[in-house]
Amino acid sequence: MESERKVEVGEKRGVRLVLFTLPLQGHINPMLQLATILHSRGFSITFVHTHFNSPNSSNYPHFTFIPISDGLSDAQASMEDVVALSAALNVSCVEPFRERLARLLSDQSEEPIACLISDVIMHFTQSVADSLKLPRIVLRTSGVSAFRAFAAFPILRQKGFIPIAADAELEAPLPDLPPLRVKDIPVVDTQNAETLYELMDKSTNQAKSSSGIIWNSLEHLEHESLTALRQELGIPMYPIGPFQKYCSSSSSSLLAQDRSCIAWLDKQAPKSVIYVSYGSIAAMTETEFVEVAWGLANSNCPFLWVVRPGSVRGSEWIDALPHDFLETVSGRGCIVKWAPQDEVLAHPAVGGFWTHNGWNSTLESICEGVPMLCRPYFGDQRVNARYVSDVWRVGVQLENELERGAIESGIRRLMVGKVGEEMRMRALKLKEQVDLSLEKGGSSDQSLEALIAFLSSF
Ligand code: UDX
Repeated sequence: MESERKVEVGEKRGVRLVLFTLPLQGHINPMLQLATILHSRGFSITFVHTHFNSPNSSNYPHFTFIPISDGLSDAQASMEDVVALSAALNVSCVEPFRERLARLLSDQSEEPIACLISDVIMHFTQSVADSLKLPRIVLRTSGVSAFRAFAAFPILRQKGFIPIAADAELEAPLPDLPPLRVKDIPVVDTQNAETLYELMDKSTNQAKSSSGIIWNSLEHLEHESLTALRQELGIPMYPIGPFQKYCSSSSSSLLAQDRSCIAWLDKQAPKSVIYVSYGSIAAMTETEFVEVAWGLANSNCPFLWVVRPGSVRGSEWIDALPHDFLETVSGRGCIVKWAPQDEVLAHPAVGGFWTHNGWNSTLESICEGVPMLCRPYFGDQRVNARYVSDVWRVGVQLENELERGAIESGIRRLMVGKVGEEMRMRALKLKEQVDLSLEKGGSSDQSLEALIAFLSSF
C-alpha cells in the first residue's frame, strides 16, 4: 500500500479538492500554482502524484501529498519521448489512481471532496471520476489557441495537412486557425505518430465530457480563441491566469536552481542581458550547440545561458563547447544548469529572452514585460511563438537552421536594434494589461470568482 506523505495539515476547512498532474515540469508548475491559488481561497488540497517526477512536498506544508504507483519501466520513465510517456501513464495509472481516489472518497475523517481537478492529458481520469460519481474539472496548462490546434488534428489529417509532407507549403495559412501557418501545426516527434493523434483525441474528447476547463491564460491574450472554443465545447471556461502573477514557480522546480546567476546579473547594466533557456524537455545536437555558443559570443551582448544537463544530445553538459569559447566570453557570459527563471526574468538587467516558447516561459516573459527571440522546438511551442511574433508582436522568430550568423543578428535585433526597442515598449504595455486583468473586476479576477463559486456549488 502507498504511504501517505501528509506534511502538516492545516486547520480543518470546508471543502477538499483532489488535484492530479501530468508529471512533467511544465505541467507540475501550473498545477501547484493553481493549488496555491485555490488554497488561498479556503479550499483544502490533496495532491495526488506519481512517483516519477514527484514534487517536493516540503515546499507545500499546507497540502496533503499522496504518491501513487506509476508502473513505468525504466525505458518508459524517460523524457526522450514525452508522447509515449504520457500515453503509458494513461494506462499504468488507472488502477492505482482509481483505488486511491475511492479510498479518499470513503474517508469520513476528512472534509468532503468537491471535485477532481486533473491535467487534460491525463484523460483516463474522466472515466475514473465518472465511475466514482465525482465531478472532474480539467486544467489545460497550454494556451487556448494551442489547444484548438491540437483539437483540430482529426480535420487537419483528413485534409492532408498532417503529417506535414516534405514538399508542403510551410508558409501557407492553416484554414480556420488564423494566424497559424502550416509550419505551426503543433506536431511532436514520437516513435509512433498514431500515439500522438490518439492522445490528443482522447484528451480533447474527455475534456468535452468534463465539468469545465481552467486555463492558465486570460481574455486579453486569447479572447478570439476562447470565444471560438466556448462555442465548440459548450462547457464552462475559466481563464484565470497568468498563475505566475499569484505565486512563483520556484518551489515546484524539479531541478536544483543555481542562484549564483542572480549575483552575476546584479553586476550587469539594465536591460543589457539576453537570457537563454529552452525549458525542461527540448534538446539539440552538438553542432547546433556550438552554433548557439558562437552566435552568443559574436553578438557581443552579455548572456545568461541555461544548459540543462542532457539537453545537448551525446554530451553530459557543456563538454561540446569549443576550447576557446569560455576565454572569449569571459565576464560577459554566465552558464548554469538550471536557473530561478521567474526571478531572472524579473531582474532589471534582463532585456530579452531567447526561449523555446513553452507556455509557462512565454507567460513568465509576458508577465515581466520582456521581449522574446522565439525558437520553438515542438508541439504548442510553435503556436505560442506565432502569437508572440504576429499577434502580440512582443518577439521575433529565429527561423531556419541554427547558424551562428543568423543567431548573432537575431540577438542584436532583439537587444540593440530599433525593432527590439519597439517590441520592448509593446511588451511593457502588454504587461500592464495583464496586471489590469488580475485587479478586482478584471477579466481573470472575475473568472476566478466564477470558478470559486462553481467549486463551492458541488
Ligand atoms: C512543456 C512543453 O515543452 C511546453 O511546450 C508546454 O507548453 C508545457 O510543457 P517545458 O518545455 O518545460 O514544458 O517549458 P515551459 O512551459 O516553459 O516550462 C518550463 C518551466 O520551467 C517554467 O515554469 C520555467 O520557469 C521553469 N524553468 C525553466 C526554471 O525554473 N529554470 C530554468 O532554468 C528553466
